[in-house]
Amino acid sequence: METQRDPHLILPQSCLNDGVHLKIAANQHISSKEAYSRILEHLKQNADLWRGPSAPNVPYGDPLCRIAYLYGIVPANANLVEKIFEESQELADHVDEIHQSIGVLDICAFGGGPGTELLAVAKWLERRQLTDPLELNFLLVDKINEWVGTWRGLRRETNKRLSQSGNPSVTISGDFLQIDVNSESAVVNFNNWDPSFSHHIYIFSYIISEIFSDFEYFHEFVELVADRAPMGAKFLFVERAESRWAKKIEEISSDCNLDLSVLGRATSNMDSDEQSSTLGQMLTNVGRNPRTTWDAYWYVGTKVP
Ligand SMILES: C[S@@+](CC[C@H](N)C(=O)[O-])C[C@H]1O[C@@H](n2cnc3c(N)ncnc32)[C@H](O)[C@@H]1O
Repeated sequence: METQRDPHLILPQSCLNDGVHLKIAANQHISSKEAYSRILEHLKQNADLWRGPSAPNVPYGDPLCRIAYLYGIVPANANLVEKIFEESQELADHVDEIHQSIGVLDICAFGGGPGTELLAVAKWLERRQLTDPLELNFLLVDKINEWVGTWRGLRRETNKRLSQSGNPSVTISGDFLQIDVNSESAVVNFNNWDPSFSHHIYIFSYIISEIFSDFEYFHEFVELVADRAPMGAKFLFVERAESRWAKKIEEISSDCNLDLSVLGRATSNMDSDEQSSTLGQMLTNVGRNPRTTWDAYWYVGTKVP
């Protein structure tokens, strides 16, 4: 039986409200109506790109495309990752062990976009009602530098939300690093990056299908990360439920000496405590509902000697 939960809008209001797009519309010298129509276009176009036969090349550099992503995809992807944390005893045990031993949990999300994985982990921790303080130190890595504004707003508001929800024991710190993890420079400069990529958990959620093919540098980059990772570190891979992505994850994990869990499948929908109606006027103005369901594969890899 599902327990009754407080209403929860995973996306902080400052990142997605009816006013954000007005600022963008003014900057682009277009009307509010035109901005909404472009957001709708991005929603349709991105869906086609993700279903297409080649690398999607989603135009995240365009602020209205980022709004479309926040509006249409982030809540569902964040809920999906939260549910995986809920379901994976292995991840929960790992977090508990670190919480009890050092009280600072270091997580790195590659291709984390606006901070979807931070929203997921924060929601999961909030529901666990921790009693001892925990610092969540979160590094977001993405090739699109423009995500940094959303990331900062989202981190600030998630911190505020956690302290106002009677759960002040979790504080969030962290950083944003712009790296194309499938580039030669990412590999060549690996030893020069600060911070050092020594994290307890690494998350790769919907980045492999976006790289799509020609994984040469990504593969090498993940090997470097795995080499640097502490023994026992967890690697969470989440992807569309297609065998080609599962195969790619298995191949990379084998080369990185990761002990992979059994393939998990998540087919579910948003929590009942998150309703698209909370999006208010924006829902009417965009004229298309955000995604509320998913069908994903996930694996947890553990670094072993
Ligand atoms: C489909 S989005 C997933 C975002 C987030 N992980 C989520 O689940 O909502 C893919 C993200 O990966 C990033 N990305 C794609 N290729 C990348 C690369 N080569 N290096 C770093 N980031 C990349 C994109 O900029 C985008 O933010």
